[in-house]
Order: sequence, then C-alpha cells, then structure tokens
Amino acid sequence: MTNNTAIIIEPDAMNLARKGAELFAQNARGSAHLRGRFVVAISGGSTPRLMHRLLCREPHLSKIPWSKTHIFWVDERCVPQDHEVSNYGAARDDFLSGVSIPEEQVHPMPVHVSPEKGALAYQGELVRFFQPGNMKIPVLDLIFLGLGTDGHTASLFPGQSALADEEKLIVSVRGGKPDVSRMTMTFPLLNSGREIVFMVSGKNKARVLKTVFDEPEARLPVQKIQLLNGKLTWLLDRDAALLLTL
Ligand code: 6PG
Repeated sequence: MTNNTAIIIEPDAMNLARKGAELFAQNARGSAHLRGRFVVAISGGSTPRLMHRLLCREPHLSKIPWSKTHIFWVDERCVPQDHEVSNYGAARDDFLSGVSIPEEQVHPMPVHVSPEKGALAYQGELVRFFQPGNMKIPVLDLIFLGLGTDGHTASLFPGQSALADEEKLIVSVRGGKPDVSRMTMTFPLLNSGREIVFMVSGKNKARVLKTVFDEPEARLPVQKIQLLNGKLTWLLDRDAALLLTL
C-alpha cells in the first residue's frame, strides 16, 4: 500500500453511501474552485445506488456545484437506456433527474450503435471534452469504482484482452453479470485520474478484498489500478472489511 492510499471503514451500507456522497461533494467543490469544473466518472452495479440517491437530497444536493459538474461513465452495459440493467438509466432514476445539471454535461456511453463503434465514439467524446493534446491522457477529477467477487473492476474482467490495452481509453468487452456486451474505461485512463474511490459493501466481497490487499501475486484485474499521481481511497463497510488485517 502506498502513501497516496486511504482506507475508510464505515459500519454499514448506509453510512458507506453517506461517506461516498461526502467525498463526491468535497471533490466537486475543490475541483470547481481550482479548475472551474468538476469531472466525475461513475460506475454501475448495485453498491453506488444508495449514494446516488443521496446526491439529490440535502445535505449533499446544495453542496455540489451542479452547473459546473460533468458526468461520465466508467462502464456501460450495451442495452437500451430504459433497460433495467442500464448504468445510465439507473443513475438517471437515482439522482440525475433530481438535480439541475445542464443536459450537455451528462455524457452517457452510446448504446444505439455497436459496442465497438460506441467505444470509439466515447473515446472521441473524451478527447473532444478534455483536449488532452498529442499522446496525453485525459485526467478525470474523481472516479468511483466497484469490485466484483472475481476481482474485476469497471468492466475489466479476469482473462480478457482488454486488461492489456495500453493504447485505447475505452474498449468494448463481453462478460460479467449480466453477461452482455459492454464498454469500459481502460486502465491507462483510470490510472491517470486525480482521485479514485472504491466503494465495496457486503460480506460477499470480504474474501476477494483480502486477496486484493494481501496477495499482489494474484494478479486480479483490480490490482492493475495503480494511480500515476492521484489519491486512492478504499471506502468499505464493516462486512466487506471483515477479513482484513490492517
Ligand atoms: C458494472 C460495474 C462493475 C461493478 C462491480 C460491483 O457492472 O457496471 O461498474 O464493475 O462496479 O461489478 O458491482 P456491485 O456493486 O453490484 O457488487
């Protein structure tokens, strides 16, 4: 563990969500103050949903400079936006429809084209937005990630070629639960972020979390998250942290 890493253990899922919302608001204010905008990438899955639902309620709602906030997605399942497993659809229902964020500042991954075309288009959107210049990688202010019981994060699953992609910002993959085509940010993009917050909740994550912390040789996809300059926070609940010896 490096000195840019923090571990926060909350008593339960609700407190985890509250802390996540606080970290969201804190980074949003800091980024807006320093750079005039806040660029965040959010993940799918069930864990962040409680936090998302808090973002559109006080005390968090009015602490977040929504007019300066830009939302990207870490990954997306290639299903229509109204489908029950759409990451965009879940975020829209959970908080986006309840906050005053300009529509053009919400950047869902495109699901109306093939996953390959969608990945390319989203990469183009990131480059247009960040204007990173030749050979440079966009720097997101804050990235929320989850952890799967198989050690995946984002839609970067064990044994897939996407894990090794050093060139692209976004790739299309197939797998996970649900087992559908997906688009995902790649390690080079994620590792360039200013801050990553992993949110991990529940007893079923305890075993894999122990492996992540204690067995670097396990080579789980999540272990490829190594920020170049940023700050990494593990935001856990007590159940998930059950087997950790810190
Ligand atoms: C997605 C994800 C994925 C998720 C983990 C944890 O499937 O869209 O972004 O990486 O974060 O699978 O999911 P849970 O929170 O549902 O356990």
